[in-house]
Amino acid sequence: MANILHIDTSPRGDRSISRALSYEFVTSWKNTHSGDTVTYRDLGRNPVPHVDESWIAAAFTPPDARTPELAEAIKLSDALIDELLAADRYVFGVPMYNLSIPSTLKAYIDQIVRVGRTFVMGEDGYTGLIDSSKKALVITSRGGTFLPGTPYAAYDLQEPYIRTIFGFIGITDVTFIHADSLNLGDDAREKSLAAAKDAIAQVVVNW
Ligand SMILES: Cc1cc2nc3c(=O)[nH]c(=O)nc-3n(C[C@H](O)[C@H](O)[C@H](O)COP(=O)(O)O)c2cc1C
Repeated sequence: MANILHIDTSPRGDRSISRALSYEFVTSWKNTHSGDTVTYRDLGRNPVPHVDESWIAAAFTPPDARTPELAEAIKLSDALIDELLAADRYVFGVPMYNLSIPSTLKAYIDQIVRVGRTFVMGEDGYTGLIDSSKKALVITSRGGTFLPGTPYAAYDLQEPYIRTIFGFIGITDVTFIHADSLNLGDDAREKSLAAAKDAIAQVVVNW
C-alpha cells in the first residue's frame, strides 16, 4: 500500500489539460491499486505563498531557537514537507508557462526545498533527504512542442528544471509524459492527447 501525493498546478479548471490527465492517471491507478491512499493538493486554485523575510530567517534558525513569530512563519512549509515525506509516490500536473513551470509550482518548490529537512550540505556536496526509492510522475501540457529532435528542444526549461530540483532533494526516479502541440491545430492536438493517454495507461501498468 502506497500513499500517493497528487498535485495540480494549473489555475484552469475544466479546461485544463494537465489537470484532466493527472486525474485520469490517478483514477486509473486507484482502479488497480485500491489499497493506496491519495492526498490531493491543488496549487492552481489554492497557491501557497511566496517565501518572505520571516520565512527565510526561520528556515536558517534552529527549531529550538525560533521565536513564536519565526515558528509561525515556517509552519506551512513544515506541514508541506511533512506531507511530501509521508508520500511514497508523486503525481504532478504541470502546464508549461514561458518555457518553464507556473509560479504556483515554483512557490511550492521554494516552500519544500529546505536545508536540514529535504537536503543537507556536507563535505561531499549536496545530499537529498527524500528516500531515492520514491517515484514521481510529471504530466505536462504545452501549447507548442519542445521534444528532443524538434527545432525548439533547447527551449524546454521545464523538464530539466523539474528533474534537477527533484533530484536535488532525492527524488531521482522521475517519469515525464508530455501532452504537447496543444495549440498547433486539431490534428496535432488530438494525436498528442491520444499519445499522452497511451503513455498514462503504460505507466499505470509499469510504475
Ligand atoms: C501564461 C502562459 C504561458 C504559456 N507559455 C507557454 C510556453 O512557453 N510554451 C508552450 O508550449 N505553451 C505555453 N503556454 C500554453 C500552455 O502550456 C497550454 O495552454 C497548456 O495546455 C496549459 O495547461 P493547462 O491546460 O493544464 O491549463 C502558456 C500558457 C499561458 C497561460
